[in-house]
Amino acid sequence: MKKTDSLVRLLLTDIEDKDILEVACGDASFSISASRYARSVSCIDLVDSRLKDIRQDNVHFEIMDAAKMRYASETFDTVFFYNALFHVRSQWEEIEKECRRVLKEKGSIYIVGTWKLDTALMKDMFDDKAEWLNDFLIARIEK
Ligand SMILES: C[S@@+](CC[C@H](N)C(=O)[O-])C[C@H]1O[C@@H](n2cnc3c(N)ncnc32)[C@H](O)[C@@H]1O
Repeated sequence: MKKTDSLVRLLLTDIEDKDILEVACGDASFSISASRYARSVSCIDLVDSRLKDIRQDNVHFEIMDAAKMRYASETFDTVFFYNALFHVRSQWEEIEKECRRVLKEKGSIYIVGTWKLDTALMKDMFDDKAEWLNDFLIARIEK
């Protein structure tokens, strides 16, 4: 099983039948795995150079800066970062604010890391809010 498929299974309650957003998606592996269960999947990145061929109808990629999203407020049930925190760390304050804006009431932000660069930073930033579940360090921020 693909790593992102395992992660989707772990977080299924916040994915199944939900409108979700993956920020800094890179090749969008997580979004593609989540699309089997989510109602809609949006994914954004500054570039599309690593993007895979997305064949799923419910996955919508856009080139967009996570610090200045073009989505309306309260659009998504859940926002995900998968192995992306280290790459957005210098803009984290603005990005977190934007994620909270685009989340519906009672929505959640998940930050997930498997790479050392991400997991070390997550421990610094989120302390005991970040917990290992199988191979994934996961921090959940509620709106
Ligand atoms: C480690 S990479 C991709 C991680 C991705 N989840 C994956 O597994 O392929 C991090 C990504 O963050 C993107 N990025 C950096 N700053 C960004 C921003 N402000 N808005 C959107 N994407 C950003 C980069 O373009 C890069 O593709």
